[in-house]
Amino acid sequence: MTYYSECIEKCVSLRNKKGVRILAIESSCDESAAAVVRDGRVIESSAVYSQIDLHALYGGVVPEIASRSHVQKVDLMVEKALEEAGCSLGDVDAVGVTYGPGLVGSLLTGVTCAKALAFAARKPLVKVNHIEGHICANYLTRPDLEPPFLCLVVSGGHSHILMVEDYGEYRLMGCTRDDAAGEAFDKAARVLGLPYPGGPRLDRLAEEGDPDFMKLPRPHTEGKYDFSFSGLKTAFINAAHNLAQKGITPDPKDMAASFRKAVVDFLTDRTMACAKDLGIRRLALAGGVSANSLLRREMAVLCKREGIELFLPRMELCGDNAAMIASAAYFRLMRGEIADLELNAVPSLRLV
Ligand code: KG4
Ligand code: ZN
Repeated sequence: MTYYSECIEKCVSLRNKKGVRILAIESSCDESAAAVVRDGRVIESSAVYSQIDLHALYGGVVPEIASRSHVQKVDLMVEKALEEAGCSLGDVDAVGVTYGPGLVGSLLTGVTCAKALAFAARKPLVKVNHIEGHICANYLTRPDLEPPFLCLVVSGGHSHILMVEDYGEYRLMGCTRDDAAGEAFDKAARVLGLPYPGGPRLDRLAEEGDPDFMKLPRPHTEGKYDFSFSGLKTAFINAAHNLAQKGITPDPKDMAASFRKAVVDFLTDRTMACAKDLGIRRLALAGGVSANSLLRREMAVLCKREGIELFLPRMELCGDNAAMIASAAYFRLMRGEIADLELNAVPSLRLV
């Protein structure tokens, strides 16, 4: 029997199995990660190697350095994840992997590794969209969460409002017209002289600043639930220059707080408008920016006021990790979706 037909048979028999274990790999950007997750909900292990120190010198991710580092670390993370889960490759039921969106060289490392492992162990291979992985971080945090729910996905490369209709079924309600929210945070942080990655640093600095120090515009977009951050970023840079020309040296804490408030107001306004229009009762956040402390606080207040139940991913699951990829792979596997060994990386992959 060929590898693929063997996997199709295995996939069918897994549908009635309790305790389906998935080993997954994530290498789309600057984290090499592997994890073992049971039934899409229970993390048995999660190993993450962050390349932050390698890229900090250059102020951002250098694709060639990222690929090389993934080549060095991905298999070590797989070993670590299996060891911490107390199992061997033979004990897992399938291998999941991120195949896009992301940096092509980085993605290829994970995809190649996953294909080799799946073929060697004759396990089904499951391809996962990175954005879907971020959404699934909520299933790992809250085992009681089930679709349908509305999800605000905000990361370094994406800002989407998605209706999660079912496992693996999404409807796009709104998205950014230019920069992503994380990108905007990183650029503003750079203006403030903060080292890469700027988003979390700007967030910490903002905690002690005055959010009313600087008046920043609330951007207009044609789409009712769309975002736009590039105008906000330009207004922030111009305001910083104007102050400098007047010989005023503002406190970076106040500037950080003003910028963070403008971004969070924009995200919460659009998301709550969409939630109210749809009459939705459950709302989740996902992606790196869902770690933002003001966004988490503001969303909690607004959802409480509207009687909407809010789901926030655990802090360590907001950023890139492989546990969320294993969770997404589980729900795809249960729908009978398996990949063949022709699988390639798709850097500009879309979810919807
Ligand atoms: O989801 P993620 O880890 O990677 C992508 O898939 O893009 O998101 C990374 C982004 C970066 O832009 C980072 O600065 C931002 O998330 N980020 C934050 C915070 N933590 C991470 N932005 C604002 N506040 C934070 N606390
Ligand atoms: Zn991500």
